[in-house]
Amino acid sequence: MLFINHDIGWAGRLMLRQFPRGFRFGSATSAYQIEGAAHAGGRQDSIWDVFCRVPGAVVRGENGDVACDHYHRYAEDVALMADLGLGTYRFSVSWPRVLDGDRVLPEGMDFYSRLVDELLAKGIEPWLTLYHWDLPAALPGGWTNRDTASRFVDYALALHDRLGDRVRTWTTLNEPWCSSFLSYAAGIHAPGQTDAAASIRAAHHLLLAHGWTVQALRAADDHENELGVTLNFTPVISASQSAADRDVARRVDGTANRFFVEPIMTGDYPADVRDDLAGYWPDDLVHEGDLAAISTPIDVLGVNYYTTNVFRAGEAEAGPTPHIAAPDAVQVLRDLPQTAMGWEVDPDGLRRLLTWLHTDYTGSAGVKLVVTENGAAFDDQPDADGYVDDTATRLEYLRRHLAAVHDAIGEGADVDGYLAWSLLDNFEWALGYDKRFGIVAVDAELRRIPKASAAWYGQVARTATLIG
Ligand code: FCB
Repeated sequence: MLFINHDIGWAGRLMLRQFPRGFRFGSATSAYQIEGAAHAGGRQDSIWDVFCRVPGAVVRGENGDVACDHYHRYAEDVALMADLGLGTYRFSVSWPRVLDGDRVLPEGMDFYSRLVDELLAKGIEPWLTLYHWDLPAALPGGWTNRDTASRFVDYALALHDRLGDRVRTWTTLNEPWCSSFLSYAAGIHAPGQTDAAASIRAAHHLLLAHGWTVQALRAADDHENELGVTLNFTPVISASQSAADRDVARRVDGTANRFFVEPIMTGDYPADVRDDLAGYWPDDLVHEGDLAAISTPIDVLGVNYYTTNVFRAGEAEAGPTPHIAAPDAVQVLRDLPQTAMGWEVDPDGLRRLLTWLHTDYTGSAGVKLVVTENGAAFDDQPDADGYVDDTATRLEYLRRHLAAVHDAIGEGADVDGYLAWSLLDNFEWALGYDKRFGIVAVDAELRRIPKASAAWYGQVARTATLIG
C-alpha cells in the first residue's frame, strides 16, 4: 500500500516511453550473495566467510554457505532470465573460488566458464564484475596492504585468460566506498575494522587495483572489451541553506561520491576532501604515478543508485561512522515512502545523478553510463504457493526509476543500460536473508518463484518500452 497516493498522483501523467535501440536491460547479482558451495573445489575463505563467523556481525549469525545455491543451480537461473527476456546478466566472480594464492582452482574456473557459455547459448550478454567484496581472507592486511592491488591484477589476468574471449564487459570493482569506508572505518562490512586511516588506505589501494587492472586488461585484449568500474552514488542534499548544513553535506558528498569518481575521471582527489581528511591521510599513501594509473581511460561507468540523503549538522557521533569527514552529519528524513531498508524512495535523484555525471565527468570523455544496480527491498508477503504480488511496491519502485533513467536520456545523458538489483532474493550482507531485493523469490526449499515485478520487468526488457 506504500505507493497508493503516488499511484493516484502519477496516473494522470503516465507516458509511453521508448528506450533507445541497443539499450541494455538486465539484472545483477554477486557471488557471495547467491552462490553457496562455500568450500567446493578448494575454495578458501573470503573475508566475508570469516566476518560471518564473528558473533553479532550478521543478523542471526547467517552466512553465504548455501545462499541461493546458484553454484549448483546456475543453469536453472540462466533459463529463468531467458524466459523473462532479460538481455544482460551482471554477476561477480569469487576470487577465492578461482585462485588459492597463485594456484588456479580448476573447478572454480570451470564453473564460471560454464556459466558464461550457458548465458551466451541463451542469448544473454555476460557482464563480469571482478570484485564484489569477497577478498581472499589469506591476503595479509586486506586492502590496507598496497600489495593486494598487485595481486588483484594477477587475479584479473588469470580470469581474463580463461574468459576474455567470451566476456565483453569487465567491471573491476563494485562500490569501493563500501569496501573501504563501510568496511574499514564503520566496521559494518568485512573485515569489520574501525580505523579511519586504514579506510583511506583501503580506498586508495582499491582505486589503484582498478587502474592497474584496466591497464593490464587493455594490454591483454587490445581494446576488444568494454572496461569500467561500478561506483555507488548517494546524492546528498543539505537540509537548509545554513553554512553549517551546507558544509556537512559537502563533506559527506566528498567521501561518499567525489572521493571515487574524481580520481578516476579527472586524475586527482578533490582538494577539499584531501583537506577534510588531512588528520587521517597517511603521508606515504600516494606514490608517483598512482593517480595517472587510477585515471586510465575507461569505457563505461557503472552507477549504483538506491536513494538520496538529506543531512544537517548536529552533534558529532561518538561511535564509528563511514562518514569519517563528517561525524557531525545527521540524516533528516523527508516525507517520502521508504523501502524495508529504511531508504527513501527518490527516483528523481537518479535523473539528477545521471545528468550530473554526464555533464561534469563522463560526457566529454565519451564514457557511457549504465545503471548497474537499482532496486528495493520490501517485506514481501508470499501467498500459500509462495507467489509474491509486489505490484504496489517493488514493481512501482522499478517503474519510477526506469522513468527517471528515460528522463535523463531525454536530457542528453548517455545512459546505455539498466540492471535491476536483484535477480534473486539473496544474502544481504550484514542484514542476512531478511532484506529481499529479488524480482524472483527464493523459498526455504530454494525454489525460484518469479514475483509480479519479474513478469512486468521482462515485458519492459523485451519491448524496450515503459509505461511510466
Ligand atoms: C549494494 C550492493 C549489493 C546489494 C545492494 C542492495 O550496495 O552492491 O550487493 O547489497 O546494495
